[in-house]
Amino acid sequence: MFRYELIHQEKYTGARLGRIITDHGEIQTPIFMPVGTQATVKSMDNADLHRMNAQIILGNTYHLYLRPGEEVMKEVGGLHRFMNWDRPILTDSGGFQVFSLGAIRKITEEGVKFISYLDGSRHFMRPEDSIRLQNVIGADIIMCFDECAPADADYEYTKHSMEMTTRWAKRCQQAHANPEHQALFGIVQGGMFDDLRRKSAQDLVAMDFPGYAIGGLSVGESHEKMYHMLDVTTPLLPKEKPRYLMGVGSVDALFEGVLRGVDMFDCVLQTRIARNGTAMTSEGKKVIRNATFERDFSPIDPNCDCPVCRHHTRAYVRHLIKCKEILGARLLTYHNLYFTLSLMEKMREAIAQDALLDLRTDVFKNYGIKKI
Ligand code: GUN
Ligand code: ZN
Repeated sequence: MFRYELIHQEKYTGARLGRIITDHGEIQTPIFMPVGTQATVKSMDNADLHRMNAQIILGNTYHLYLRPGEEVMKEVGGLHRFMNWDRPILTDSGGFQVFSLGAIRKITEEGVKFISYLDGSRHFMRPEDSIRLQNVIGADIIMCFDECAPADADYEYTKHSMEMTTRWAKRCQQAHANPEHQALFGIVQGGMFDDLRRKSAQDLVAMDFPGYAIGGLSVGESHEKMYHMLDVTTPLLPKEKPRYLMGVGSVDALFEGVLRGVDMFDCVLQTRIARNGTAMTSEGKKVIRNATFERDFSPIDPNCDCPVCRHHTRAYVRHLIKCKEILGARLLTYHNLYFTLSLMEKMREAIAQDALLDLRTDVFKNYGIKKI
């Protein structure tokens, strides 16, 4: 059974310490969720994920629907069994992936017509299909099928899109066949318009979802704009339910989100930049691929105690990346995820002491982020 417990709310900020209880165990919040789009967090196996203390991972309905497909998922008994992962999983609904992969043919009230990024085949996904698939995949937390309007969409487009997303949320709720074991989260949309964000949040809150996501952010707008949209949205969400900011995972946005009351984050940033040779470190991002590191025999991050930093050097990891050896991508992926998960753990410790602002000052100073 799904449950959220608010353990501590910071005195002078919106930051919350909490825990989410699912059938597959507990999640300490605020939390970062590594992205495992294709039933794998790219290059990490389950032992790696356990060792770095990943508490929950994310899967994508869109990709799993195209491959391996609904029948395989049904036959194996869901994603947990398929990948032999026994901790919590969250699946995104497919809405966003259809849009971001640029494969949309047509969005109507009924659903989304799209072309497969794999073979060009034609598909139609309705909110009911997304929920049926997510019921088969069996994640502990599942998401409503939504439209993420582009950041530059005008008021009329965004209003219609947001209202349709709310109607789709109702359909998702009605189609959900397994509410005792899978918590269905609503997704607030409304683009960059304060009144649309408020309307979206209010209408979804009235529908009493067990948790709420904030979607349609980090789609090209400035960070200031994103933080403003959070300021407009989070105060309207129920305190006794978890909040999830979708697709956001830079160090500054993690802090700013948590300070505004966000409990959950996911992002492909950590794993994506790792594969092209960039490390997130306590001293900021470092492009390990660069020639500067050719003879640098110090660890990726001198302040990190992950196995990569304990056993290997920048020069070695750079060499692997330069040679396109798969171990290079793997080591940096491990480190970047470890770095981010440890940062979230430090945030949880700080919140318990009402000291998240002090931690932010320290981390931003070393990382080279100017406070806004
Ligand atoms: N991931 C990042 N942003 C979004 C969004 O707006 N909707 C969904 N479903 N997933 C996302
Ligand atoms: Zn490390």
